[in-house]
Amino acid sequence: MCGIVGYIGNKQALPIILNGLKRLEYRGYDSSGVATYNGSTIVSCKSKGKINKLEKSIAKRKNLNGKLGIGHTRWATHGVPNDINAHPQFSNSNNLCLVHNGIIENYSSIKESLIKKGYEFHSETDTEVLVNLIEFVKEKENVKLGEAVQIALQKVVGAYAIAVIDNNKPDEIVVAKLGSPLCIGVGKEEHFIGSDATPFLEFTKKVIYLEDGELAVIRNHKSTIFRKTKDDTTFSPVINNLELSLDKIEKQGFDHYMLKEIYEQPKAIRDTLRGRIIAEKGVIKLSGLDDYIDKFLSAKKITIIACGTSWHSALVAEYMFEKIAKIPVEVEYASEFRYREPVIGKEDIVLAISQSGETADTLAAIKLAKEKGAFIYGICNVVGSSIARESDTGSYTHAGPEIGVASTKAFTTQMTVLYLMAVKLSKSKGIISEQIYRKYILEISRIDKKIHKILASNDIIKKVAKKIKGSKNCLYLGRGYNFPIALEGALKLKEISYIHAEGYPAAEMKHGPIALIDKNMPTIVIATNKINYDKIVSNIQEIKSRKGQIIAIVSKGDKEVKKIADYTIEVPDSIESITPFITVIPLQLLSYHIAVMLGKNVDQPRNLAKSVTVE
Ligand code: M6R
Repeated sequence: MCGIVGYIGNKQALPIILNGLKRLEYRGYDSSGVATYNGSTIVSCKSKGKINKLEKSIAKRKNLNGKLGIGHTRWATHGVPNDINAHPQFSNSNNLCLVHNGIIENYSSIKESLIKKGYEFHSETDTEVLVNLIEFVKEKENVKLGEAVQIALQKVVGAYAIAVIDNNKPDEIVVAKLGSPLCIGVGKEEHFIGSDATPFLEFTKKVIYLEDGELAVIRNHKSTIFRKTKDDTTFSPVINNLELSLDKIEKQGFDHYMLKEIYEQPKAIRDTLRGRIIAEKGVIKLSGLDDYIDKFLSAKKITIIACGTSWHSALVAEYMFEKIAKIPVEVEYASEFRYREPVIGKEDIVLAISQSGETADTLAAIKLAKEKGAFIYGICNVVGSSIARESDTGSYTHAGPEIGVASTKAFTTQMTVLYLMAVKLSKSKGIISEQIYRKYILEISRIDKKIHKILASNDIIKKVAKKIKGSKNCLYLGRGYNFPIALEGALKLKEISYIHAEGYPAAEMKHGPIALIDKNMPTIVIATNKINYDKIVSNIQEIKSRKGQIIAIVSKGDKEVKKIADYTIEVPDSIESITPFITVIPLQLLSYHIAVMLGKNVDQPRNLAKSVTVE
C-alpha cells in the first residue's frame, strides 16, 4: 500500500503535495518523493524514511517551484526502502515521471523485453518498468501520453493507481486505476489527486472517484475520463460532494484503524494469496519456499520463533505443519529462545514470524540461530525490514500497513502464508493426494467470502460485548486449532480493554482455572463442529454446572451448544485447518467493541508500541 498525491492549477504545487503526503502516511512511510514541473523541466526529490525527512531534503533545494506536481509515500513491495526505489520513477529519456500504488505482477517479463530493446533500469521497482513501458508505447505508436498509458496498461497484469507527467506536455497529469484507490478533487481552475480525499479536503469537497479500468487526463480547467479500452468513448464523471470529516476519511469511514483493519482482512488475505495460488489449476507458488524445497523436505524439525500475536500464528502453524505435512514443529517465544542455549544446528530450519520485522527479541533469536548454522525463513509484513533482510529466504504477507497496535490482519495473513507452506510441503512429500491438495487450495481461496459473512454479524457481536463489558476477568477456551485462537482472543481483550483475560486449552480448565468460575466470570468457548465438538460440549456443561456464563462461537446450524450457552455467535462451516481464520474474527470484533464501550484508546493502548524494538 502506498499513497499518491498530485496537483495542477494556479497555486504552488509543492506545499499542497507535501501536506497531502502527510495525510496519506498511514498508507506507508518507508520512503517518499515529489516531482514538480518548474517551468523548464520536471525536477524531483526523494528520501528514505518519513515525510519529515523528505521535507528536510527539499529545504536544501531551490528549484522545486511549480504549479504542477506529483508525490508519493511508499510502503515497499518491490525493492527495499531507499532513495533509488522511492517514487517518482523516471523513464529512460527522463521525460516521463510516474508515481504508483499497487503491484505489477508481470513486471519481470515486461522488464526483460524492454531490456532487449535497450532500456536500462536503475531501481528494483515494478514502477520503473511501467514508466518505461509507457514511454516505449508512446514512441512506438507516436501517440499522446493519455493514449500511451491506455495502451500500456492493457499489457499489464496486477493492481495499480498511477499518476504520470510528461516534460513535453507539462499542462496535464494522466491518472489511471485498477484495484488500488484513486480520486480527483475538482477545484476552481485546479485539480487535485489523492489515494483518498484527505490530501485536498481543505481545498474542495467535490470529488470524482475513479472506477477500476478508468483513466483521466487532467488539466487546470477540465478532467476528461476515459474507459481503459482504446475504442471506448469519454464520458462525464459523477462528481460527489464530500460530507465526511478529515478524521473519518483517513480511516476510510471507520472509527478506528483497528476496526478498519479487521474489515480489511478479506482483501488482505486475497493480497497475500495474489500470484501464489491458481485454484483452478491446483498450483501453489511460494518462491521463498520453492527455491529451498529440498531443505524443507529433508528437515527433521522446524522451530518457529515469534512474539505476541505472531507467536500465536506460530502455534496455529504447529497444527498445520504437523497435521497436514507431518513435519515436527517446535514453537518458541523468541525472548526465551535467545537465552536458552537452544540445541540447534546446520540441519535445522528456523521460521521467524513478525509483522513489523523489527521486533528486537525475534531479530536477536534469528542472529543466534544463524550463528549456530540454522537456515532462516522469515515471514514478515514490512518489506525490507531487519528480520526480512536477516533471513536466508522467506515470504512477505502483503497485508498492507497495520496501524492499530492490536494486530488483526497481520495475524490472518501470517496464517495464510503458513497454510500455503504446510499444504505445499505436504504435496511435495507425497502425503496428500492431488484431490485433497486441490481441496486445500480451493478452501483458502474462498476464505475471504466466509470472513465477509462473519463481519456481517457485527451487530450480534456488539450485543454480546455489551453483556460482558463490565467483567473484571474473562476465560477463553478452545481445542486443537482453536487453542491458539483462544490465546489470541484473550490477548486482544487484554491489550485494548485492560480486562484480565486468559486463554487455555479447554480440557486444561479442570486442572485449575475452573476454580475461578462463578456467575460473574464469562467464558468464551470456541465450539465449532469439526474440532473435538463432543468434548467441548462437555467442557461447557462443566462450566454451566458452576453457574458460569458461556459465550460460544459455533458453526452455522449448531443445535447442541445453542441449548446450553448464554450467547452464541455463528460462523460459517469449514474444513478443520481453515477454522482458525474464521473463529478469530468474532474474537477480534468482541474485544474491539468492549474496548470502545469502555472508552479506551483502541488504536494506541496504554504502555504499548506497534513495534517492540527493545528487549
Ligand atoms: O511485529 P511483530 O509481529 O514481531 O510483533 C510482535 C508483537 O509485539 C505483537 O504481535 C503484539 O503482541 C501485538 N500488539 C498484539 O496485538
